[in-house]
Amino acid sequence: MAPVPAPLIAPSILSADFARLADEAQAVAGGPEGDGADWLHIDVMDAHFVPNLTLGLPVVESLLKATDIPLDCHLMIEDPDRWAPPYAEAGAHNVTVHAEAASDPRKIAKDLRAAGAKAGLSVKPNTPLEDWLEVLRDYDTLLVMSVEPGFGGQSFMPEVLDKVRTARRLVDTGHLTVLVEIDGGIGTDTVEAAAEAGVDCFVAGSAVYGADDPGRAVEALRRQAAHASPHRTSATRG
Ligand code: DX5
Ligand code: ZN
Repeated sequence: MAPVPAPLIAPSILSADFARLADEAQAVAGGPEGDGADWLHIDVMDAHFVPNLTLGLPVVESLLKATDIPLDCHLMIEDPDRWAPPYAEAGAHNVTVHAEAASDPRKIAKDLRAAGAKAGLSVKPNTPLEDWLEVLRDYDTLLVMSVEPGFGGQSFMPEVLDKVRTARRLVDTGHLTVLVEIDGGIGTDTVEAAAEAGVDCFVAGSAVYGADDPGRAVEALRRQAAHASPHRTSATRG
């Protein structure tokens, strides 16, 4: 069995102040003990795949210069076959595309990896995991959406945890090697259920940037997640 990673926390800057993104990244960077955010989650929305518009490659390129936190780019865009690889070429740590938007997901994974990034595949709440299990063999991360993509601050959909359990089982039995990530409605009231189901990496927007102290909110979420997944003992980080 592959080493079990410690719970990773990925604050989403969708809930941060877009005029002060470098400071907002710094607010979750942690101290010398390495207790800060593991990844910084960047929600790229194109007003076509989702009904909202956020930011794109130029902002990601600037953020890469402004922070050492590995960037986790979640592309909620049409035609990721064309537009995803430049995020990997720019230096993003993980680049996630939506299964529902991809024409040739295998080729996308190959392109992302060739550019030096991890390749991520995301499924919306109503997208069955079964349709993507073969394709996921080519991916490094699986992002299970626990809200309809498009907006921060929505309520967690517990029914998606069945997909998390399925993915966890396949990883633990060696059939898949993906890191299991969840996105949407994660906070102090939902992180434990997600951890128990087998999530490795927790995206949290409003629960981190809506808190008085975003850095402490990251630490608290990690503590809760670790506590709810007692089988995780190693400090391996993805
Ligand atoms: C929603 C985005 C999420 C969003 C999560 O489409 O993909 O990353 O920032 O926000 P919260 O944690 O507030 O649900
Ligand atoms: Zn996201």
